Amino acid sequence: RDEPLVLGIETSCDETGVGIVRGHTLLADALASSVDQHARFGGVVPEVASRAHLEALVPTMQRALDEAGVTLADIDAIAVTSGPGLAGALLVGVAAAKGYALAAEKPIYGVNHLAAHVAVDTLEHGPLPEPAVAMLVSGGHSSLLLVDDITAGVTPLGATIDDAAGEAFDKVARLLGLGFPGGPIIDRAAREGDPASIVFPRGLTAAKDLAAHRFDFSFSGLKTAVARWVESRERAGEPVPVNDVSASFQEAVCDVLTAKAIDACLSTGVKTLVIGGGVAANSRLRALAGERAAKHGIVVRVPRPALCTDNGAMVAALGSHLVKAGVAPSRLDLPADSAMGL
Ligand code: KG4
Ligand code: ZN
Repeated sequence: RDEPLVLGIETSCDETGVGIVRGHTLLADALASSVDQHARFGGVVPEVASRAHLEALVPTMQRALDEAGVTLADIDAIAVTSGPGLAGALLVGVAAAKGYALAAEKPIYGVNHLAAHVAVDTLEHGPLPEPAVAMLVSGGHSSLLLVDDITAGVTPLGATIDDAAGEAFDKVARLLGLGFPGGPIIDRAAREGDPASIVFPRGLTAAKDLAAHRFDFSFSGLKTAVARWVESRERAGEPVPVNDVSASFQEAVCDVLTAKAIDACLSTGVKTLVIGGGVAANSRLRALAGERAAKHGIVVRVPRPALCTDNGAMVAALGSHLVKAGVAPSRLDLPADSAMGL
């Protein structure tokens, strides 16, 4: 096939990912994670993540090439996450991509991590109908985006004004004495709990907040409310019903996320909602989004969990879009931009 063979490198947080795609077909998705090294700190430690990327990158690269049954010489273009993310972590991936591009004389594409989270969906569900609304919910970001043309970037509609959704899951898991990362553990605990047992606040949904923050999120008040609730139980010497707290907290997050995502679709007249980022793996979020979207004839696209969390395939997927659209490659002095906007 004459579809471009694109390799993608992702190192913006704690996952070292190298993915290879041909056109929009996934050939390889190799991953190394430093998540276990961060567990005892209850969050990602940037310095630890950078060192882990340095050790993991070359072996992960080799695994991806082996998995796809190709060599570096066969690759048409190298894409790399150039931001946003942890500065030191990004630097490792960007420097490696430059090295490979220079050595093998390949064009290099610096891509936006958030746009890559959206683009990955095409590997699973085919071309994305545009315009679409995308909701990205992970440990580092919680945004609603309008996707007119993925090769030209995405337009922000709103974002969290404090904690990211995944960060809220991680912090609540920590205060409940569960492990890290908290999302999957709370997801599991919530299945045994009653989501209506405790009513936790829905941030930025009051009429007075909607005027300025219709598509923005806030999760830090929710986290504090959970902490207060747990503390008052402990002070009274009563046991903390971990499953009920998990279910009620998760319901509050998913209620707000899905309500605002659907509102964004309705207000823009868009019929496709893509959800990505680690929190998109959440079973309640997937179910509630599907339920609410169906009522409005909106189609929800959520990639399988392994493609929702950070990975190299998403970077390769966006790179492939850029190559196919004839977008000019980046310069070899492309920076790692930790605060990259959209
Ligand atoms: O996209 P990702 O792998 O990395 C970032 O860019 O942050 O997302 C990781 C986040 C973590 O906060 C984790 O707790 C959350 O995604 N997460 C979940 C679930 N699986 C992962 N949150 C809720 N439910 C899940 N099933
Ligand atoms: Zn991410």
